[in-house]
Amino acid sequence: MSQLIIKGGNKLQGDVIVNGAKNAAVAIIPASLLVDGVCEIENIPYIDDVIRVSEAIDTLGVSTEFIEKNTLKVDAREVLTYEATEECASKIRASYYLLGALLGRFKKVKVALPGGCNFGVRPIDQHIKGFEALGATVVVEHGIIHAWADKLIGTQIYLDVVSVGATINIMLAAVLAEGTTIIENAAKEPHVVDVANFLNMMGAVVKGAGTDTIRILGVEKLHGGKYSIIPDQIEAGTYMMAAAITGGDVTVRNLIPEHMESVSAKLIEMGVVIDEGDDYIRVRAPETLKPTNVKTLPHPGFPTDLQPQMAVLLSVAEGTSMIVEGVWDNRFQYIGELKRTGAQINVDGRVAVIEGVSKLTSAKLTATDLRAGAAMVIAGLVATGGETIINNAQYIDRGYEGIQENLVALGADVRRSVDEDKDRKLCDNVIEINCKQA
Ligand code: EPZ
Repeated sequence: MSQLIIKGGNKLQGDVIVNGAKNAAVAIIPASLLVDGVCEIENIPYIDDVIRVSEAIDTLGVSTEFIEKNTLKVDAREVLTYEATEECASKIRASYYLLGALLGRFKKVKVALPGGCNFGVRPIDQHIKGFEALGATVVVEHGIIHAWADKLIGTQIYLDVVSVGATINIMLAAVLAEGTTIIENAAKEPHVVDVANFLNMMGAVVKGAGTDTIRILGVEKLHGGKYSIIPDQIEAGTYMMAAAITGGDVTVRNLIPEHMESVSAKLIEMGVVIDEGDDYIRVRAPETLKPTNVKTLPHPGFPTDLQPQMAVLLSVAEGTSMIVEGVWDNRFQYIGELKRTGAQINVDGRVAVIEGVSKLTSAKLTATDLRAGAAMVIAGLVATGGETIINNAQYIDRGYEGIQENLVALGADVRRSVDEDKDRKLCDNVIEINCKQA
């Protein structure tokens, strides 16, 4: 098992560089299956989820190679099979992108149901609705999704919920379809736009990504090329919050400030001083943080993937705050763990009421998922009275390349204890259990 051990109390100071976006990378790697050529994907975060996705597409006979630590070369001129029922495909939630990509390329696909972080029901009915609208037959049996069509034909698809995964998956299935596909009520997240930009760079015609309506004009073929992934909005926000809670002064570099607007707005409400440049945000913490209310929403709303980290900040604000989780049914599972640090939080359904306390105290904590783990790191950075030990730190590594090194460079006291063998087994077991529950 991997642990992060943090002695809190140090003010973070200096610069930190944000890596490429995990949720863009885990979609763009499968998207490269649509390309009859070689893609070089730069600014790929070297994290567990990305490695697993590239392993998953390896099992299809595609050649993938990290030609540099953060550059992945994918040669999908030959794809040997449309079946990703291998053990690997069930290990990551993002394996669902294999569905859209392989259906788009072969007009048939078989993929094991996705695994990944477990916080409530994670349906894929909107993905399936999209594939069916394009003309595919979709059958789910024995944990395997099987879809096929003689041909895919562009059509208008209205998403009943704003879904990042469904928007991207339908885009993938539609780029090589006949005619024009229109996705209404599409997700507008930065990584949706990034996937569209990647596809366009390879010869697709996708218009309107980043708005409610995306139009995809089907083309016959995609060609290879180079693409660089956008910076990770959630990683950037996590470091901004770590700076704000520790009384720090940190410049978060290599980000896109427009992606951070909802986060910056909330931090400013809390008294944090935010200075923006073209590709950086400097965060200067106030003496005390003011309380505020947050509702998570699809982009451009406050991101659900920063909700746990925000809960920690609000736990030490001077007064009462409220968080409403507007995206997932069950994303407060980590609160019980967080309360071990002295945080005072009451949860009722999708609402958490947080009474600010003057300090958090160190505790032994267990990360329940990736972002909950990041929140626990933030708690550890301010907790007093000894060391905070975070078990299951391998969850955190799924989304944050070099988090320990980055925090240490900013002045934090963070060390790691690793048992790689146990770590891998534990991670695999948990993911298998989640997959069975999905
Ligand atoms: C993506 O998940 C991200 N994962 C998640 O980040 C993120 O929390 C989520 O988007 C929301 O921003 C990846 O990109 C790999 P959704 P996704 O489809 O695509 C409901 C992280 O920590 N829904 O936008 O699976 C669903 O239940 C991860 O990095 C349906 O009802 O999320 C949820 O309430 C965790 N039917 C809402 O929509 C569907 O067919 C949003 O889900 C699909 C989704």
